[in-house]
Amino acid sequence: GNTVSIGLLGLGVVGSGVIKLIESHQEELIHQLGCEVNVKSVLIRNLEKARNVEIDRTFLTTNPDDIINDPDIDVIVEVMGGIDETYHHILQAFAAKKHVVTANKDLVALHGTALEKAARQNKCDFYYEASVAGGIPILRGISDGLSSDRIQKVMGIVNGTTNYILTKMSNEGVSYENALMEAQELGFAEADPTADVEGLDAARKMAILGRLAFSTDIALEDVEVSGIKNLELADLQYGEKFGYTMKLIGYAQCSDQQIEVSVQPTLLSKEHPLADVKNEYNAVYVYGEAVGETMFYGPGAGSLPTATAVVSDLVTVIKNMRLGVCGKHSLEARFEKHLRSSDQ
Ligand code: HSE
Repeated sequence: GNTVSIGLLGLGVVGSGVIKLIESHQEELIHQLGCEVNVKSVLIRNLEKARNVEIDRTFLTTNPDDIINDPDIDVIVEVMGGIDETYHHILQAFAAKKHVVTANKDLVALHGTALEKAARQNKCDFYYEASVAGGIPILRGISDGLSSDRIQKVMGIVNGTTNYILTKMSNEGVSYENALMEAQELGFAEADPTADVEGLDAARKMAILGRLAFSTDIALEDVEVSGIKNLELADLQYGEKFGYTMKLIGYAQCSDQQIEVSVQPTLLSKEHPLADVKNEYNAVYVYGEAVGETMFYGPGAGSLPTATAVVSDLVTVIKNMRLGVCGKHSLEARFEKHLRSSDQ
């Protein structure tokens, strides 16, 4: 038909960005897809809450079944966050043969493998580019862009809050507490910033990156994590003097058939490409056997950047629908082979 209808679960920072982007870039979408993308209904918790996007109230619902069981809806976009309830909604969506795009890093880090499998069994697509490093197309970069290479190492600055804090402390001598407060005011810290400063948010993203880079499942418990809470201002400034800069670095590397994933504060030489990544920006450095050094840089959070990743996933899903290849052409193409052999 001339319209693809989608259902949106959640209308927060990312959800309102998705609506704005679909509206403002409708021309690009039509040009690529030959059809219009229509947000048919939106799941919210509170009908009375003020929204920072214009939307007709008749599109809003508080009942997920209105969306998951709507036969007109082909794709569900999940931007509500949370784990257990959301996991359940997505499994139900696959059972109802709906494709799913999500931005939910916590969910994908914990249940990505199971969701991937459920998608495949139902011949549905499942994409989650926005779950790691916001607007940076890093999952595609690894899965598609570097599909011919053997990846040896991934190093990432994948948490904007901690990178902002470390930049302010090292370069401007701002205290940890004040820098954290600024990060919260600027809106990229989590509501409870514990997961940011203790490195857990970065660990979840590194588990997803490691899974894609090395085609193997990575349990969150196996990621060794230490955060930035105990770093001293004086130490950071001392490092700067001698040409080193402190960064919270996520590592995923493969040596001797061993995959190791960790997140730790690291003194980087200023020569390292990641040393220049400042403030809330994210970057992922990937070393491949054939390609050598690559680096992907950009905004790791924010309404429109994150919405770009979500809507680009949506474009991929709609193209796959047209080609009749849904459930076959996922981000985890390399991983799928591995899963199939371990299924048997
Ligand atoms: N709290 C996260 C960060 C938001 O600071 O990077 C993006 O996932």
